[in-house]
Amino acid sequence: MPQRPALAVITASTRDGRFGPVVADWFSARAEEHGAFAVRRVDLADPALDFPAAVDSADAFAVVTPEYNHGYPGPLKEAVDSVHTGWIAKPVGFVSYGGLSGGLRAVEQLRVVFAELHAVTVRDTVSFHGAHVQFREGRAQDADPAAKKLLTTLHWWASALVPVRGSYPA
Ligand SMILES: Cc1cc2nc3c(=O)[nH]c(=O)nc-3n(C[C@H](O)[C@H](O)[C@H](O)COP(=O)(O)O)c2cc1C
Repeated sequence: MPQRPALAVITASTRDGRFGPVVADWFSARAEEHGAFAVRRVDLADPALDFPAAVDSADAFAVVTPEYNHGYPGPLKEAVDSVHTGWIAKPVGFVSYGGLSGGLRAVEQLRVVFAELHAVTVRDTVSFHGAHVQFREGRAQDADPAAKKLLTTLHWWASALVPVRGSYPA
């Protein structure tokens, strides 16, 4: 691959007072350290965001999502649905956070959605339960190995899929 694949780190929460950017900042820093990707930030709360263009130009995704009432944020569904072919044959990883569950129920629902879009969700996840407390107490770094594993897996998939994406039989 001539250049590093582009990783879009998507901040999925948009509400006032959201915690999402704290988690997205942390993960983006891990991705920069990892070094295999050209890292781009995609914030669904940004009114100037051209989401379809951001998806089209990315080779891999890390969706940073909270859990709301055992699901994922409505604006994330709206954004995902606004793109038709841009997800095809691209890997998607999840960085989730929440109260007790760490956002894992939201992630399981998202796997079903991305399968319909011909994207490949990767098994490895990063998950923060009690996320506010973990970050406040400086324990986010405990998740550094999980972030590294997720990034390595995403990069493996991106490297494998970029050369053949155009011939996917969708
Ligand atoms: C409406 C609402 C519903 C929530 N439901 C859950 C839930 O089902 N499970 C959970 O673990 N945390 C739940 N939480 C906690 C959130 O995941 C946590 O507050 C997180 O910081 C929300 O992300 P945000 O601050 O980026 O919007 C809920 C929070 C809100 C505001």
